[in-house]
Amino acid sequence: SRVEYLNYEVFDDYGWELTDDDLFAKASDADLDPEDYGRLLVQQNETLLEAAENRGFAWPYSCRGGACSNCAVALVEGEMPTPAGHILTEEWLDRGIRLSCLSAPVTESAKVVYNVKQLPGLEELIL
Ligand code: FES
Repeated sequence: SRVEYLNYEVFDDYGWELTDDDLFAKASDADLDPEDYGRLLVQQNETLLEAAENRGFAWPYSCRGGACSNCAVALVEGEMPTPAGHILTEEWLDRGIRLSCLSAPVTESAKVVYNVKQLPGLEELIL
């Protein structure tokens, strides 16, 4: 899967919201560092977190097993299945939140915002 990624930490600087329609277009125009915005190819045997790490990025994580939500990403476009045995509620899944340590997008392309662990309410899930 070809994944376009964006760092949630830059949102405050630009006044962006996760629900902005043209979020990734704005990100592409913003001249961000490769660590904050870009594209990466996820190989078949990689989770999204591993794919980022294998390209030299340090995305947040802790347990690597679906139990903490430190590795949470917001899936803006594409499909990313979540295997059983994880901490996310249906409500978070419905809002597009996924755990990058557990899986990767299965669609040909996808858009994800990483570093969303500080979303209001989500951090309370963190053990
Ligand atoms: Fe803990 Fe992914 S690192 S849920």
